[in-house]
Formats: sequence, structure tokens, C-alpha cells
Amino acid sequence: MAADIVGIGVSIPEKVLTNADLEKMVDTSDEWIVTRTGIRERRIIDDEETVSDLAAAAGLAAIEDADIGRNEIDLVLVATGSPETIWPSTACLAQGKMGLPRCAAFDLQAACTGFVYGLAVADSLIASGLFKTVLLIGAEAMSRFVDWSDRNTCILFGDGAGAVVLREARPGYGVLASYLDADGRGADLLKIPVGEKHQTIKMSGNEIFRFAVKILPQCVESALKKAGLGIENVDYFIPHQANQRIIEAALDRLGLPKERAIGNIAQYGNTSTASIPLALDEIYRTKSLKQGDIIVTAAFGAGLTWGANVIKWSGTSGGMDA
Ligand code: COA
Repeated sequence: MAADIVGIGVSIPEKVLTNADLEKMVDTSDEWIVTRTGIRERRIIDDEETVSDLAAAAGLAAIEDADIGRNEIDLVLVATGSPETIWPSTACLAQGKMGLPRCAAFDLQAACTGFVYGLAVADSLIASGLFKTVLLIGAEAMSRFVDWSDRNTCILFGDGAGAVVLREARPGYGVLASYLDADGRGADLLKIPVGEKHQTIKMSGNEIFRFAVKILPQCVESALKKAGLGIENVDYFIPHQANQRIIEAALDRLGLPKERAIGNIAQYGNTSTASIPLALDEIYRTKSLKQGDIIVTAAFGAGLTWGANVIKWSGTSGGMDA
């Protein structure tokens, strides 16, 4: 038994922060940012907005897309690395804001790998029979944890949320395999320390870059192997959107044509756990996805964490009933 994506929703803040805006804030240039990262602009939430607002809006959009009742959600699972409170969880806050009747709710912390971890966890919880319908949300207000005077990091991150509704798949479809991994020895390379006056992102950019270039193709191959598939079977590759150069290096190593990779880094920057569902939503809305397509998602992040999922698209989600 596997879980299937039966609805997708997103929430993207309206406020756009361009590279030109950043030129006025730190010693940087549009040219430097575009050539080193591929990022042109990112979205930033308003002062009065919070990450659970984004999570709730994306969640409701996914429920509506799945064409199910709010009372059918058994679990709200939120992957976030930028919560507004340590507790209550963002999942509980979003559950309340969505007006869902009682159901289980918890957060999952795997930094930028959170959506990939979340898909694996939701898949196994559905397979176990514990829950029938899971709402998985990747939501981030990274702008709240960015040091806006640090040019090494402030150019990279953006805000947004994406959500999927998951249910038991018909045989042969849905999440075919997941590969998850972590190495806490790299914990210092990327972190947001708690308890300091200004809780902001601290990053060793070069080390993370080298790690990502190595690990992204590896986890794709591991997940495909578990699914009994090869790189030639991949119709869409949705990598975590951290840096266009990391994605291109991974494509080279995998021998995967560029056209198969889906991304939104130029528009949104690194939205952490939201980057994969935001990109998935794009191919979904444009109706590029066909029944039977193989989608591979892959991500890496603080922890260090990394992982990948292999999904066979069933075409049963809201907008595209088979
Ligand atoms: N604008 C202009 N110059 C900048 C800059 C900016 N925004 N940020 C850094 N620089 C400078 C550096 O200070 C350095 O100057 P120096 O040579 O005088 O010391 C120079 O540019 C080169 O820095 P370097 O760190 O070698 O650049 P890079 O090509 O490695 O790119 C990152 C830096 C951060 C873009 C890149 O390392 C990266 O993307 N790493 C991974 C980060 C990531 O993905 N994090 C999230 C993981 S989920």
C-alpha cells in the first residue's frame, strides 16, 4: 500500500524582494546573485503575517483541490524550519486557522529536507493504516530568520508554502519508494541557534555547496534503486531549490537532460520545505503531468539531512481526474 497525492495547494506572499532591492541593503549585485545562485527575486511575508498563515492557506487550497471535506483530514503534518513558536507546533496553529475539526497534528523538523521526509512519513503512516487522509504542508517564513546584514545568506532565502493531500493509492501508483538519510556530524555547517538575542541563519556556504553537489545525485540513485527504476525512467526531477549551480551539477552527474528538471529558484529563491511542493504545483497547474509519469523529488539541508522520493503519478488529484 502506498500514499497518493490527491490534491495540491500553495500560498505565496505578495511582496517581492528583488536582487535590486538587496543591492540597497548589502554590498552585492544582481549579476553576482544571478551567476552564483540563479536567484532573481524572492517573496517575503508581511509583518503581520506568520508562517502558520501561509501553511493554513496552502492547506486549505490543497483540501479544496482534493475536493474532500475538512472533516476528512486525519493528520496535519507540517514540515517547517522557520516556526513562529517552538511550541505549539505550526501544525496545530495551522489546524486551528483552517478550522479543521479535531485530528492529529505535529511538526516534522528536517530543515530543507522536510518535505521529502514528510512524504515518506505520511506514506508510511497511511500504509500502516493509522491514518486514511494526511495533509502534508511545507511552509516557511525564512525571512524572519535571515540576518539582513549578512550578504552570504540574505540573498538566498524566500518565504512560501505548498501542501498536498495524501490518501491510499491504487496499486502500482503513488509513492513507490523513499530514501532518507542524515549525518549529525555536519550540524554546525548550517544552523539557527535558539536562545540567542537574534536568532538568525549561520551557514558555511562552501561546505554546504560541496556536500549538496555530492549528495543530491546519490540520494536520487538510492531512491530509484529502491523503486526498481533507473534514471531513464524519470519524467520529472524536482530538486530542492537552493542554488541553480547545485541543480545543474546534479543533472550532469545523473546524466539527466535539463528539461526534466523542474524549478522555481529564479522567482522564489530557497523556500526550504516549500520549494518542492511549489515546483510540483507548477507542473500540476500547467497540466504537464500525465498518468504514469515518474516524478523524483530530492532535497538536502541542515542536520545534515538528505533524501528523495519516487512517485508514480496516478492522475487522480482534484483538477485532473483520470
Ligand atoms: N554578493 C557579492 N559578493 C558576495 C556575496 C554577495 N551576496 N556573498 C559572498 N560574496 C563574496 C564572498 O565574500 C567572497 O569574497 P572574497 O573572495 O573576497 O572572500 C566571494 O564572494 C566568493 O564567495 P564564495 O563563498 O566562494 O562564493 P560561492 O561561489 O561559493 O557562492 C554561495 C556562495 C553561498 C552562493 C554558495 O556557496 C552556495 O550556494 N552554497 C550553498 C548554500 C545553500 O544552499 N544553503 C542552503 C542549503 S539547504
